[in-house]
Amino acid sequence: MEALVEIMATGVCHTDAVMLEGQNPKASFPAVLGHEGAGIVRAIGAEVRELDVGDHVIPLYGSECRTCPNCTSGRTNLCWGIRETREKGLMPDGGRRFSVGDEAIYHFMGTSTFSNFTVVPEIALAKIRADAPLDKVCLLGCGVTTGIGAAINDGGVRPGDTVAVFGLGAVGLSAIQGARIAGAAKIIGVDINNQKKAIAKTLGATDFVNPTKIDGRTVECILDMTSGGVDIALECTGNIDVMRQSLECCHVGWGTCVLMGVEGRDQELSLPPVLVRYGRTLKGSYFGGVRGRSGLPKYVDWYMDGKIEIDALISHVMPIEEINTAFDLMRSGESIRTVITF
Ligand code: APR
Ligand code: ZN
Repeated sequence: MEALVEIMATGVCHTDAVMLEGQNPKASFPAVLGHEGAGIVRAIGAEVRELDVGDHVIPLYGSECRTCPNCTSGRTNLCWGIRETREKGLMPDGGRRFSVGDEAIYHFMGTSTFSNFTVVPEIALAKIRADAPLDKVCLLGCGVTTGIGAAINDGGVRPGDTVAVFGLGAVGLSAIQGARIAGAAKIIGVDINNQKKAIAKTLGATDFVNPTKIDGRTVECILDMTSGGVDIALECTGNIDVMRQSLECCHVGWGTCVLMGVEGRDQELSLPPVLVRYGRTLKGSYFGGVRGRSGLPKYVDWYMDGKIEIDALISHVMPIEEINTAFDLMRSGESIRTVITF
């Protein structure tokens, strides 16, 4: 039920850095990291039903088995069909497909895209059209889909809405695009890095707020700009103080705050219940609420049709040999996304 995939390109994302730095308590080492890739199927197992050699695919860290209780509920994209083994760095049969000499190497997020070749279960591969450039659409394997999907699916942005996006990395900039596609009238980008302003505006932001230039009075500022709060707030920093501010910026009665950022180890969010009792909604989003196998082909079409932008999010491209430079650029805040090519 697995396919051998030749990875042609992969993005470098924070979750890889978190793992690399040993901050993930569940981590199994040694492992092949990487989860934002795209490639071509080179071989298939006997039980593979819907994929063929030569198919172009995006590996999914969130599988779509279509049979587990979550999948059949029709209410979530969180498939737990192979979750247990995936979290242990194993294939569904409990085995591993990487080795160095006699030593077996663990998988990471079920995808392990920092490798020329990887093995992925069929239920965790989205087949995509063959004319899409893999060195661009690889970013649909994580950050871009997460941001766009969160705005459209989880935020439910509607035409005319006012939206605030906190944190303008690849995820937040994509959330801006999602809000724009959904027809938002006002999109406020918030980032402590002024250099994000230009690209945010290119992708659809109508306003930009830098908290460091207003003594951190972000909430007051956004309430002033919006006659009482935004319809939808999209949080893409992983900072728990920003998460709370995002909720506070939501309009009483209906404002919805969607959390996408991943908090630091053991961090907790605290808030006075009145913030939600007065009708605000606080929710989270995983992979933009998108079911990978069913949903990603549409995102690829959107890219090919020019409806969404990916190229502008790729600040650096380098070969796998320089991948540590990609991590350095990410930590320094210099890169939006680095794409590694093989
Ligand atoms: N207020 C506003 N913006 C902030 C703040 C803050 N207090 N702290 C950081 N930022 C900005 C950074 O300047 C940066 O532009 O948030 C942005 C985060 O972007 P990236 O680090 O590139 O992260 P990204 O890949 O977009 O992921 C965002 O989602 O997947 C998770 O773990 C990931 O938590 C991270 C989040
Ligand atoms: Zn499932």
